[in-house]
Amino acid sequence: MSTGNLQPTPDDRFTFGLWTVGWQARDPFGDPTRPALDPVEAVHRLADLGAYGVTFHDDDLIPFGSDAAVRRQHIDRFRSALDETGLVVPMMTTNLFTHPVFKEGALTANDRSVRRYAMRKVLHNLDLAAELGARTYVFWGGREGAEVDVAKDLPSALDRYREALDTLAQYVVDQGYGIRFAVEPKPNEPRGDIFLPTVGHALAFISTLEHADMVGVNPEVGHEQMSNLNFVHGIAQALWQGKLFHIDLNGQHGPKFDQDLVFGHGDLISAFGLVDLLENGGISGASPYDGPRHFDYKPLRTEDADGVWVSAAANMRTYLLLKERAHAFRADPEVQEALAMAGAGDLATPTLGSGESYQELLADSSAFEDFDAEARAVRGEGVVRIDQLMVEHLTGAR
Ligand code: GCO
Ligand code: MN
Ligand code: MN
Repeated sequence: MSTGNLQPTPDDRFTFGLWTVGWQARDPFGDPTRPALDPVEAVHRLADLGAYGVTFHDDDLIPFGSDAAVRRQHIDRFRSALDETGLVVPMMTTNLFTHPVFKEGALTANDRSVRRYAMRKVLHNLDLAAELGARTYVFWGGREGAEVDVAKDLPSALDRYREALDTLAQYVVDQGYGIRFAVEPKPNEPRGDIFLPTVGHALAFISTLEHADMVGVNPEVGHEQMSNLNFVHGIAQALWQGKLFHIDLNGQHGPKFDQDLVFGHGDLISAFGLVDLLENGGISGASPYDGPRHFDYKPLRTEDADGVWVSAAANMRTYLLLKERAHAFRADPEVQEALAMAGAGDLATPTLGSGESYQELLADSSAFEDFDAEARAVRGEGVVRIDQLMVEHLTGAR
């Protein structure tokens, strides 16, 4: 097995949230295990490791409640670090979940004054996103949800969610910011249940928006897996609908609390399938996603500051390892032969012939009257061989 060049470079387009490497590891049961990390240091360390960019919530950089002068100081220091390192800010987002004012919701709070405050917080930060050149603005509705369904007018909550995104999108259009929105689904945590819990819910909701064309999704590996869903399938559908605007890569061991592990440190086979899809387009062969490879993970609470940077590097190295392994898998003649025997490529052929309609299909006796379903059913599909070849590539046996 050759592992090529595993040193990340900005061409790999790896990005990290400030809140990831900066997580102090406070959890519901315990105090922080690490000191605060200066965003300027985060920028320098990430650049040294070969990252392309950094992302953040307003409050990650500018403490909640800062006045205009303090706000500007934080932005200018950060801007200098970006200029010194060449790191870019491709994505930004709003913290609408930490402050207790958002305990009952933000854009979907029952209290209209909270909703108006939340919208203003987003508008303020959209101006900064435009200033820093961000192209994607993420909406993760951590507090948009409920524990008590009968205490919330659920259809109205969706109306208010739509009203907020329509209004904010109109602002971006009017300002000419050229920013696209990406809704990030999550089933629960911190709310008992969060609105727009999965990629599928988010895609359906987006189709109802006034500016649906400028709104896509930012799926996170662990969030779909918390719901016991297949993340690779979700990504395939988002790509198929032209809606994969951004992606949050991390690791998760099945349905349980949001683990936010290092990418690949959860379901490794799913991670292989994901990288194969993102890099090779799976079987169809086209490379379908050219956005940042964004890591949204939490360095384990057991780690000190050194462990934080070990974990940051691990995300990128794991991605590059899987990319190399996926290329080797696709290039392997035995894999290609096994895929051909399984007819995997035939799915790209339309079921009807060119110009054929259901009339011709009805008239084709070979499709039904003369089709021997029993004979066809006994033939094996040859899929397990492909699975094993994948495992052999993944484990370095080929
Ligand atoms: C989570 C979420 C968050 C969001 C982030 C962006 O793990 O619960 O992924 O990390 O991505 O807050 O808004
Ligand atoms: Mn998460
Ligand atoms: Mn996320």
